[in-house]
Amino acid sequence: MRALSGRVLAASESQTLAIAARAKALARAGHDVVSLAVGEPDFPTPQCVCDAAVAAIAQGKTRYTESSGIPELRRAVAEKFRRENQLPFASEDSVLVSCGAKHSIMNALHAICNPGDRVIIVAPYWVSYPAMVTLAGAEPIVVETTPEDGFRLCPDRLRQQLDERVACVILNSPCNPTGAMYTREQLDELAAVLAEHDCYIISDEIYEKLAYTTPHVSIGAIASVADRTITVNGCSKAYAMTGWRIGFMTGPRAVIEQAAKVQSQDTSNPTTIAQYAALAALECAEPDVARMRERFAERGRLLLELLARVPLVRAYPPDGAFYVWLDVRPLLGDQMSSHQLATRLLEEFFVATVPGEAFGMNGYLRLSFATSEDNLARAVERLRRLVETIAAEKR
Ligand SMILES: Cc1ncc(COP(=O)(O)O)c(C=O)c1O
Repeated sequence: MRALSGRVLAASESQTLAIAARAKALARAGHDVVSLAVGEPDFPTPQCVCDAAVAAIAQGKTRYTESSGIPELRRAVAEKFRRENQLPFASEDSVLVSCGAKHSIMNALHAICNPGDRVIIVAPYWVSYPAMVTLAGAEPIVVETTPEDGFRLCPDRLRQQLDERVACVILNSPCNPTGAMYTREQLDELAAVLAEHDCYIISDEIYEKLAYTTPHVSIGAIASVADRTITVNGCSKAYAMTGWRIGFMTGPRAVIEQAAKVQSQDTSNPTTIAQYAALAALECAEPDVARMRERFAERGRLLLELLARVPLVRAYPPDGAFYVWLDVRPLLGDQMSSHQLATRLLEEFFVATVPGEAFGMNGYLRLSFATSEDNLARAVERLRRLVETIAAEKR
């Protein structure tokens, strides 16, 4: 058989999906599985959003739309970017609506990457970035962060990596998996380094509305890098709309035009009905967002309290998103990887988590608190029993 695409073969498969599949298989076999591996809100989509979708169907809004998205949604997104994110250049013509933020990022990478280009990714990173960069024909360059830096990219580390091969730097605040956010001052420092270098910035702000400790700031609002920043956001996490598949971005007109061309030849418009639902989300769902954020904040606090009672692990309080990044290195010693630990936790205690390796950093587990308080309590109790078992094995 003729060879398959080297680009596609080189891209890794999603490790989180593999864990979710195993957890489901154990549940089907009758085990009481508690999952802290989920990457989506467990709340229902707000009623006003569902009503708008039903109305769209009733009104026959079921045909193709403009490939880049309906004008009223693009206008609402541009207005959101200008008002909430202070992105000066956001306009209806510089917004592309896509099938989820993942699709937005992929379109953007296709628009800017050439063979031989490098794209900087900050570890721990969202699982999909490296594969997406590879699929776009560029080379992912992973820059590690440290607990001492709060898992944030520090300007000196960034400067060391920047050369003429770097086409783009991907930033993610609030971050999946650590929940870390960048303050205005931290972004100013990164922007000062980036402004000296001819590259794009993709700022993935999908968890923007789930911020607990510090206000969300968009790097695209900083004048020195405003004209090279592609700001990505969407409905999935803020409005509990993961299944509706609506993401959007704004950025330099030339980039958005090429990204729109990719989309027009690839998927055409995002689902028409979901676009009307997204419009309703932007217009009427802020009270629902506030309620969900409050619930997430409470659950995050509970999870931290519970984890504080477990020996040999250390939880990093998140600034945003709905994950706790758990340092399990003292438990692992030299013998075990976090992947092995997550496997034991799942196979012996039926708790699903995502090991740090999936995010490019061994020694940690990502625990999602997008689940009930009861599940959090049961999961941490089982984790505590595993920790005690391992400690006893070591003795
Ligand atoms: C950091 C980050 N960016 C983007 C996405 C993708 O979002 P969407 O479901 O809108 O494609 C996710 C989803 O998990 C994410 O965690």
